[in-house]
Amino acid sequence: MKTLGIGFVGAKYGARMHYENYKKLPQGLIEIRGICSRTPESAETLARDIGVSFATDNLDALLARKDIDVIDICTPPATHHEIAIRAAEAGKHIIMEKPLTGYFGEPGDQEPIGLHVPRARMRAGARKNAEAVRDAVRKNDVQFCYAENWVYSPTIAKMRNLIAASKGSILELRAEENHSGSTSEYNRQWKNTGGGALQRMGVHSVGACLHIKQWEGQQRTGRPIRPVSVIADVADLINTEASERAKKANAHKWINSNPIDVENWANVTIRFDDGSRATVLVSDAGLGGLNTRVTAFMTDGVIKANMTANDAVETYAVDPNAFGKEYFSGNLETKAGWNRPSCDEDWFRGFAQEIEDFVYAIRDNRAPFSGIDLAVDCVNVIYSAYLSAEEGRMVLLE
Ligand SMILES: NC(=O)c1ccc[n+]([C@@H]2O[C@H](COP(=O)([O-])OP(=O)(O)OC[C@H]3O[C@@H](n4cnc5c(N)ncnc54)[C@H](OP(=O)(O)O)[C@@H]3O)[C@@H](O)[C@H]2O)c1
Repeated sequence: MKTLGIGFVGAKYGARMHYENYKKLPQGLIEIRGICSRTPESAETLARDIGVSFATDNLDALLARKDIDVIDICTPPATHHEIAIRAAEAGKHIIMEKPLTGYFGEPGDQEPIGLHVPRARMRAGARKNAEAVRDAVRKNDVQFCYAENWVYSPTIAKMRNLIAASKGSILELRAEENHSGSTSEYNRQWKNTGGGALQRMGVHSVGACLHIKQWEGQQRTGRPIRPVSVIADVADLINTEASERAKKANAHKWINSNPIDVENWANVTIRFDDGSRATVLVSDAGLGGLNTRVTAFMTDGVIKANMTANDAVETYAVDPNAFGKEYFSGNLETKAGWNRPSCDEDWFRGFAQEIEDFVYAIRDNRAPFSGIDLAVDCVNVIYSAYLSAEEGRMVLLE
């Protein structure tokens, strides 16, 4: 079997996280052969750290390499669709961090776009970008692997097995994610990320709910259960009277969320074609460390999947430094008091499993478990939710 050559685009958090999980694969399966980043310094730093000889700030130079089969896109969302289309046209398979794409502004838009551009126009633009990637992938006959790690989490895998073992139906899914906000500068603005907490975090919850219902449908009737409409509310909780009151009382020191034109809270209800519902609740203003959960309320039982802060390991300390630099879990404010450090966060959250599936899918020329159709559906649901929140009405998914 030939070794798959991987080229990274993006050289910071996401690329390093993917690299840690490529390292777990059997030797000879893949080799990282090139790194491209916006600045040569970033590409060179990662290349040096992980022992790769080719670093560039020129995407064409990366795409021109014949020994690179797969482009792993770990850049901010605004860049995703263009990089993916160029990669597909160069005949490269694609691994892409979430979200697939969104709306990031067009010439003539008043800035900041999140405060000025109507969501109907944004939805049309985001869907155009998403379909352009799907077209390029199909036309050039390359694989598209959508890095929606939640669907690879062993907790969601167990949920799938339990649903298959039952004869019941999921009447309601509840998916949630919260933490104390992104520290990344680019996440503060719609033009970089294509939205706020819903687009950045909620895309996981939406992806998991769409995946679980389509999988339930395949199990029960041989056809996917599809989403048909959404109703949503979004908010910037930081720029509120409630938030200001706490700041004046010096009781508002821990939340990082500092948006320019994006929401940091969202609540979305998705209706499916079998009449069931999914609710997605995300917040960038929720202390207590990363919280990611999906609950399936079924006719014959309840299944709770908890990807973070589960109680496999529990610690207590008075001194927050008692356990030194040992990693606990994402976005945790303090190690003092009772805590639940993850014993293997990349495994619980599905990062290791997604990379493994992608590499074998590309090698064996089969579809990955999470591919382009889920990615496109997520864009549609999220931007329909933005439209619903703006216009205060239920929006049908076309
Ligand atoms: N699945 C998850 O839980 C998860 C978690 C975190 C992030 N993500 C996703 O991962 C992706 C990257 O986020 P991140 O946290 O890794 O961001 P990051 O740490 O800021 O890194 C972004 C990288 O992309 C590079 N870049 C920006 N524009 C570029 C362009 N046009 N061409 C080439 N390189 C470019 C940057 O270059 P320079 O350094 O040269 O400026 C930087 O190296 C996002 O889509 C995000 O949603 C997913």
